[in-house]
Amino acid sequence: MTDKLIIFDTTLRDGEQSPGASMTREEKLRIARQLERLRVDVIEAGFAASSNGDFEAVKAIADTIREVSVCSLARANDRDISRAAEALKGAARSRIHTFIATSALHMEKKLRMTPEQVHEQARQAVRFARKLCSDIEFSPEDGYRSEPDFLCRVLESAIAEGATTINIPDTVGYAVPELFGEFIRMLRERVPNSDKAVWSVHCHNDLGMAVANSLAGVMIGGARQVECTVNGLGERAGNCSLEEVVMAVRTRRDYFKLDLGIDTTQIVPASRMVSQTTGFVVQPNKAVVGANAFAHASGIHQDGVLKARDTYEIMRAEDVGWAANKIVLGKLSGRNAFKQRLQDLGIALDSEGEVNAAFARFKDLADRKSEIFDEDIIALVSDESVTADVEHYRLLALSQHSETGERPHAKVAFAAGTVEHHAESDGNGPVDASLKAIESCVKSGAELMLYSVNAITSGSTESQGEVTVRLQHAGRVVNGVGADPDIVVASAKAYLSALNKLHSTTERVAAQR
Ligand code: KIV
Ligand code: ZN
Repeated sequence: MTDKLIIFDTTLRDGEQSPGASMTREEKLRIARQLERLRVDVIEAGFAASSNGDFEAVKAIADTIREVSVCSLARANDRDISRAAEALKGAARSRIHTFIATSALHMEKKLRMTPEQVHEQARQAVRFARKLCSDIEFSPEDGYRSEPDFLCRVLESAIAEGATTINIPDTVGYAVPELFGEFIRMLRERVPNSDKAVWSVHCHNDLGMAVANSLAGVMIGGARQVECTVNGLGERAGNCSLEEVVMAVRTRRDYFKLDLGIDTTQIVPASRMVSQTTGFVVQPNKAVVGANAFAHASGIHQDGVLKARDTYEIMRAEDVGWAANKIVLGKLSGRNAFKQRLQDLGIALDSEGEVNAAFARFKDLADRKSEIFDEDIIALVSDESVTADVEHYRLLALSQHSETGERPHAKVAFAAGTVEHHAESDGNGPVDASLKAIESCVKSGAELMLYSVNAITSGSTESQGEVTVRLQHAGRVVNGVGADPDIVVASAKAYLSALNKLHSTTERVAAQR
């Protein structure tokens, strides 16, 4: 048992399974670079066998990331495992994470397999994976609801076949902290070769206890790896939140007595990047990364903090990266300064053409906004007109008229492939009119599930508005994000970005299916 806690980040795999959070290869690569700066120990880059897109994303991350181990998920079969190994070929360090469900409910109703068949498949999968990679993680899906005797036998076999990490998922977020911690301890005590593997926990947040359960798995159970995601992103209520686990262990080192490899000053930049990329907004009162996490509104608290910071603050905002919100560039900044800032932010655009496109957009923004912050630059490069991402629909121009007592009207010009469209519509407000104008041409039939606006940088009306639009169509849910100082323009961009995602045909196989 080591006294280091391994942080296994699954934002790009389990986080991405959240409806609407799917990311392009370039977006995943950008986040992977940020996770490398954050110095997580393992990046689960995706589920290589689930789609060609996911395979390419895992491969690109494996070929790029040098400082962190890169992992791919694989179901417990030879094809999935071979695809994972193939995608990970270029990695400096790699891990294959193979899984099969072990609860009676999942085996009978989902897999339609007997426990003996599942046991044998788990054994074969680990044996096969171990021939292709020396670092193998095995997960019994729905492990927490599995029958303990059976689970112990499967885990013993997995370790005997060469699994180096045993990860126990609470797949449906059913656990409570004390019981979960005792469950992990029981497994470690009863599996005869348990000391040959690192034990890990993977908790979902359906009852809001993913972080507490994970920490109980560590303290009571003796787990030394926690699987988590930035902002707790993930299916349903999400996964265990990386920033909360990391800051709990670091702030209460007196209790946990565990080391971490994390550079905590990269937490807020990572949180912003994930939120801006996926369109999953962080609630203001979210621990560590919420906009209010370090804001003191009451007079008594403000007075206390001014006199002695630790009266009301247990962490320092700058230690988690809040101080990074600084002016970086302005109207007079040149291309080299811009390129350097991209590099400092870890944003590698693939070609000079992309740098030029981003610089043109930067100049355009600097004309309208005097102070450009890091967040503005991140939003700018997320814009599909900069990256080489699939970009069928593109906004060309928008004008709208609204006056008190009159029904707003919008005219929108946009490209669909090589064809230019002009559309106009009335609406309840200028945003409504603009989206209706686009929809009158595209006729997507998609249902608008969510519309939200946020200021990218706080404290001024000059800030860019960042709009998230969630659309649902034919069983698919997608998020589109758009940023602009004009929120009507940001809304049209967000709508077109969501339509682009619906337009792309890439489908994935969800891990739990
Ligand atoms: O929640 C879960 O069970 C998973 C497994 C695939 C590890 O994500
Ligand atoms: Zn999961």
